[in-house]
Amino acid sequence: MTFLLSVMMFFMAQVYAQKESKTLVAYFSATGNTRTAAKEIAKQKKAVLWEIEPSEHYTAEDLNWRNKQSRSSKEMSDAEARPSIKQCTNIMPYDTIYVGFPIWWGICPRIINSWIDNNLEQLESKTLVPFATSGSSGIDGAVNYLKKTYPTLTWQKGILKK
Ligand SMILES: Cc1cc2nc3c(=O)[nH]c(=O)nc-3n(C[C@H](O)[C@H](O)[C@H](O)COP(=O)(O)O)c2cc1C
Repeated sequence: MTFLLSVMMFFMAQVYAQKESKTLVAYFSATGNTRTAAKEIAKQKKAVLWEIEPSEHYTAEDLNWRNKQSRSSKEMSDAEARPSIKQCTNIMPYDTIYVGFPIWWGICPRIINSWIDNNLEQLESKTLVPFATSGSSGIDGAVNYLKKTYPTLTWQKGILKK
């Protein structure tokens, strides 16, 4: 009887562990704030952490939003810009994906579009939770933009992390 109970508890623990590991936190961070937020969410949700890394790292000059010719300004002023990503993400095992980014120009950086476009078909069966860090902007503009740009995806309410 004790043995049977132990076996049952073992299998229940396995099922629970599998359930717990079905959340992914995928994020882009240029200067570290969103990385800190992503790590916190991953810890809370017992989720797997994945950094969306650009093929070409953003330098301080690239991030200068006061310069209209900087890389970030050029990308953000071009709705079709899709900066390339270093590695593919295996999103197959996950049901819920937290998608994190810094707010750039009130919305998400274009690399988030690159990541979504790369995974669009598979993302259609997932629940997506946007989260962001910012200087002062809220996340609603970014969430509305994502909903409008990707209407076939299931977007939950956004979370703005401090
Ligand atoms: C190109 C660029 C544009 C930004 N645009 C905004 C903005 O529109 N609103 C805002 O509150 N913060 C803006 N910020 C500030 C970032 O959202 C904020 O510093 C964020 O926490 C950076 O996250 P990270 O360290 O993960 O890259 C911008 C930063 C950069 C580099």
